[in-house]
Amino acid sequence: MRTVQVALAERAYPIHIGTGLLSQASLLTPFLKRPRVAIVTNDVVAPLLLNSFAESLRAAGVAVTEIILPDGEAHKDWLTLNMIFDGLLTAHCDRSTTLVALGGGVIGDMTGFAAASYQRGVPFIQIPTTLLSQVDSSVGGKTAINHPLGKNMIGAFYQPRLVLADIDSLKTLPERELKAGLAEVIKYGLIRDPEFLVWLEAHMEALLAYDAEALAYAVERSCINKAEVVVADETEQGERATLNLGHTFGHAIETGLGYGVWLHGEAVATGTIMAAELSARLGMLTAADVARVRRIFERAGLPVVGAKLGVERYLELMQHDKKVADGKLRLILLQALGKAIIHDSAPQKDIIAAIETCC
Ligand code: NAD
Ligand code: GLY
Repeated sequence: MRTVQVALAERAYPIHIGTGLLSQASLLTPFLKRPRVAIVTNDVVAPLLLNSFAESLRAAGVAVTEIILPDGEAHKDWLTLNMIFDGLLTAHCDRSTTLVALGGGVIGDMTGFAAASYQRGVPFIQIPTTLLSQVDSSVGGKTAINHPLGKNMIGAFYQPRLVLADIDSLKTLPERELKAGLAEVIKYGLIRDPEFLVWLEAHMEALLAYDAEALAYAVERSCINKAEVVVADETEQGERATLNLGHTFGHAIETGLGYGVWLHGEAVATGTIMAAELSARLGMLTAADVARVRRIFERAGLPVVGAKLGVERYLELMQHDKKVADGKLRLILLQALGKAIIHDSAPQKDIIAAIETCC
């Protein structure tokens, strides 16, 4: 087992990465206030992982409530969030109950938001079961639900007590979801870790073949990068925004097409190519750099051509993004491969050209 620490002083927590972790209740029990948890999962993950996980906790003397939500990004909303509160209240869960998110980023984001607000805050633990959630969403305390007008618009910063990333759980992950997770892995190489980018170029086939050693390394290196950024800027006053490379363009695709049509990672991949194109137009990247960005996403089996929303619609949706400050669109661009910057004065004509080139 490898462990990465998120060194947030009184809110510090470990991320354990390895195989066979879900059957080791002793990894969780020291983090519980009382031996009582509510596991929140969905109807896809429950048949795969819930029984054995819940049984290992019960065998360790932990009382377990199970809350099973409908699967999918389209259910990351108020109605489904309320199902968590229904489950907690029906089971008389009090403030010392720990919420455990067992699933991908949708479950993790919703459970975290429920934990932040149930009885004004209860502890929670993240057990991410998709590659995307192991490398990104389970770490750093961003929790949210979507609004029809914008993605992740309602939420809270609320850190988990522990993250357990069991590489074994990825064995059942559909290939399309694995590839979507790789988009966020590649992101770390592009924004701040050029050596990792080279490693990813050399190990893409192993990752796509679900090689456990390669996946564990990619999860660990991603979590090291994410933890460093979160510790430096927990509430996104500056550097943390660089984790959103490609996201303003990508969120436009996700919202514009309807949540769940494109996977988050797929939208981020295409959005990142748009950001690279724009960076080149502003003189920061070369054409060869942009080709290298496009190539790595292509090799990961991700879409490199944007959804055909029409450029006006892209611009309209991008204006709704959380990265808009004082009416200015703040975009994350690449000064070089391995160095992201926050840029708020890209000319509209260049933004339009970058979108059109990719669609
Ligand atoms: P997801 O949670 O929808 O999971 C993808 C699919 O895989 C779902 O159908 C899920 O049920 C299924 N699944 C999960 N684990 C499985 C397993 N082990 N085997 C088989 N199937 C499994 O999507 P995701 O890609 O994990 O997360 C995307 C979400 O994360 C988005 O809502 C995005 O906004 C959010 N996100 C949040 C942050 C953050 O910092 N909080 C960062 C990135 C993304
Ligand atoms: N996924 C972006 C962040 O955590 O800030």
